[in-house]
Amino acid sequence: MAGILFNHVYKRYGKYKEVVVNDFNLAVNDQEFLVFVGPSGCGKSTTLRMLAGLEDISEGEIYIGDKLVNHEPPKNRNISMVFQNYALYPNLTVYENIAFGLRVRKVPKHEIDLSVKRAARVLEIESFLDRKPSDLSGGQRQRVALGRAIVRTPEVFLMDEPLSNLDAKLRVQMRSEIIRLHKKIGVTTIYVTHDQIEAMTMGDRVVVMNKGVIQQVDTPERIYERPVNMFVASFIGNLPMNFIEGKLRENDGYLDFCTNRGSLRLTAGQAARLRKSRLINRDITMGIRAEHISFDEAAIEANPHSLMTGFTMFNEFVGSDRFYHMDIRSGKLLIARSQCLREEGERVTMAIDMEKALFFNKDTEMLLTE
Ligand SMILES: Nc1ncnc2c1ncn2[C@@H]1O[C@H](COP(=O)(O)OP(=O)(O)O)[C@@H](O)[C@H]1O
Ligand SMILES: [Mg+2]
Repeated sequence: MAGILFNHVYKRYGKYKEVVVNDFNLAVNDQEFLVFVGPSGCGKSTTLRMLAGLEDISEGEIYIGDKLVNHEPPKNRNISMVFQNYALYPNLTVYENIAFGLRVRKVPKHEIDLSVKRAARVLEIESFLDRKPSDLSGGQRQRVALGRAIVRTPEVFLMDEPLSNLDAKLRVQMRSEIIRLHKKIGVTTIYVTHDQIEAMTMGDRVVVMNKGVIQQVDTPERIYERPVNMFVASFIGNLPMNFIEGKLRENDGYLDFCTNRGSLRLTAGQAARLRKSRLINRDITMGIRAEHISFDEAAIEANPHSLMTGFTMFNEFVGSDRFYHMDIRSGKLLIARSQCLREEGERVTMAIDMEKALFFNKDTEMLLTE
């Protein structure tokens, strides 16, 4: 087993040397389950393929353990990969599919048998080792593909959107099976997905990427609560974070965030930090998540200095929650979570939980911390 290190790694493609992976720096811990997440085309697969040796590295260094692997062919890197299109050999049985890679490597027959059965046990597919892939469900096939990857114990597992072809219910089930598998065998794993829910539920740490650049590397909790910029704040979360524009104004010793739908009083800690940023009286952006906006009478009474008004446009009932799309200024929408029932078009007062508000530089879109 081994950690992985990316040191100033770049990938440039084509005649115009378009940069698709841009100064990628990352240390993956031994035995970690790390997730790369980002929109389609942001460079996740390319980064993974450089690590696997399937793609040249334009610049920089990649280490697996202590070993510089830039010029090692894929077979010397001791990596197993699972892809989105887990093509199994249709004419081979499950057993033969799992054994295939070992046969190619001329592993003795009895060793192959032990390895295949061990992998099948871990994945609970022992009872259909004799079947052909066409006799399996999608989830079972996916497990066979995983079996092919874990039949040898590599130093590193790479999984590139392995669940994208499965239906929603199966995806949820396979998510937990992959995590369980990882806990059992503890091999350093990089898992790629464009799905933020998958990233948040699976990763020990999550690497958020955009346009070839790492935006943030952090635990799911930190990424949700302290996104470093507006891209991360809107990409992560079942709903994107709400952004409201306004100006910071001094008010009788307090600092208020003034919008044309109400003023919101900053906490003492926020005020102290933002006074240092020299953005008083300038346009800045406040971020607030739907669950920190309340229609509740008690919340409104408790926060008389942090109220906004808006008009309900429509709401979405999702069983556990109801999400209200609020018009706070001709066409500008804000999404609030509330159990209260409100009519369409009703004027509503909203209490903002300012403890949870974040402030971003309007131009750089970076979180304002100091
Ligand atoms: N062989 C290639 N030649 C030129 N451009 C490529 C090649 N492979 C990928 N790209 C480009 O690199 C960017 C990143 O692609 P990729 O790593 O596949 O993104 P992701 O996996 O995050 O969806 C995309 O803009 C893609 O078009
Ligand atoms: Mg990809």
